[in-house]
Amino acid sequence: YPGAEAFVPPDATSREDLAEAARGCHGCDLYEQATQTVFGRGPTPARIMLVGEQPGDVEDKRGEPFVGPAGRLLDRALAEAGIDPASAYRTNAVKHFRWKPAPRGGTRRIGVTPDVRHINACRPWLIAELKVVKPDVIVTLGAIAGRSLLGPSFRATKARGTLIEYRPPDIPGMTALLVPTIHPSAVLRSPDRDAAYAGFVDDLRVAARVLA
Ligand code: URA
Ligand code: SF4
Repeated sequence: YPGAEAFVPPDATSREDLAEAARGCHGCDLYEQATQTVFGRGPTPARIMLVGEQPGDVEDKRGEPFVGPAGRLLDRALAEAGIDPASAYRTNAVKHFRWKPAPRGGTRRIGVTPDVRHINACRPWLIAELKVVKPDVIVTLGAIAGRSLLGPSFRATKARGTLIEYRPPDIPGMTALLVPTIHPSAVLRSPDRDAAYAGFVDDLRVAARVLA
């Protein structure tokens, strides 16, 4: 597996060009098991870009990021933080759904966290998206997105809700502010969902203040 680099058109200037090329990506093994590539969506350029982990079960079938339960929670939280959900470009660190069958013969597919090799293989798509989205603010949702952009030493729980000056080493001259937060799925799984949701909205408000 060569990584996504071999599939990214070097002269692509639009999201559509990138999404089209990404449909045929065989940069890592994850394309074999998934239904389709789930590329990022939203306005380009956009002042705010949200980066998740990987598509979920619903996203894999529909081909769009954040259209399942986590996406609905995300939209609600964005609006509550004062960010128009439609203004945000949303994507994932890894563009194919990694999953395993449910135990005991169930039919539901269970998401499996991508490995470092998948994150690294898929990063060229994320970098290419950054170049067309040109965000002022990037919000990383969860540890995988944070690691993809900030490296393996990134610690999500320590950094969440803080503003980090981000200069992607692969994009000379680009600067953005980056706000790490938790993943909306973590809110859904939390034993104290109300508190987790409130904390998530607080982090998004940090991004909202930059946009104001
Ligand atoms: N979780 C993610 O990280 N991304 C999606 O697109 C959906 C769920
Ligand atoms: Fe390509 Fe990323 Fe899919 Fe791997 S996960 S095949 S690198 S688009």
